[in-house]
Amino acid sequence: MMANQAEIQPGHLVLDPFVGTGSIAVACTVFGAMMQGSDLDIRVVKGYAVGGKTKNKGIPGLDKIDKFNIFTNFLHYGIPEPDIACMDVSMLQHKQLYSEAKPVFDAIVCDPPYGVRARSQKIGMKSTKKVKENTNTDEGEHFAMKEHFDFVELHDLLLEVASKLLVPGGKLVYLFHTDDEKPAEENKFPEHEDLVFLRSSRDGLTKHRARHLITMQKK
Ligand SMILES: C[S@@+](CC[C@H](N)C(=O)[O-])C[C@H]1O[C@@H](n2cnc3c(N)ncnc32)[C@H](O)[C@@H]1O
Repeated sequence: MMANQAEIQPGHLVLDPFVGTGSIAVACTVFGAMMQGSDLDIRVVKGYAVGGKTKNKGIPGLDKIDKFNIFTNFLHYGIPEPDIACMDVSMLQHKQLYSEAKPVFDAIVCDPPYGVRARSQKIGMKSTKKVKENTNTDEGEHFAMKEHFDFVELHDLLLEVASKLLVPGGKLVYLFHTDDEKPAEENKFPEHEDLVFLRSSRDGLTKHRARHLITMQKK
């Protein structure tokens, strides 16, 4: 549905800045997109702790897959693999690059973080004291994220980046969570002067909470 809303055509360049395990990237690629994805959590991208072999018994061919990571599904479906970067979404606004960045993406399709209602994670900068975290991998140390994004700040950033990096007419498709028990202001869909709101559809999760599939278009 999200890839469909983005009206992806073969050859479109599409970004998912919260790519996670890559489910949206798979769908967009099936529609013919060339995908770029990023996520701050390298453990998700690399598929650490994915118990594919133990939890999904009965799926043909699963026993032949040695390593599960973000590319596994693409290999399984025989579709082009995405370009993946491990980075904080705010790096899209990197000060030395952003001012000269060109509108290159035909669509940005994503599911921003919402687990903790008002907070998302942000990679700590060099000056931030880092905390070692044991991930039980052979890939070296992982450093826990120490700073946090405000929920509003995260969506403002997403819309600002979309207004800069989308080609004219390009689509921003994303999921936005609301909670009727919160003040109306917090449930207001984000706006940007260069993005036109096209449509939304509501998916009720609980009595008070819902997620909305929002489609916007760059002017
Ligand atoms: C709702 S999940 C998206 C799931 C994804 N669609 C999938 O198929 O797995 C949100 C993702 O955003 C990532 N994330 C959270 N804060 C972030 C940030 N500041 N920059 C980039 N990625 C972030 C999380 O690691 C998580 O993978």
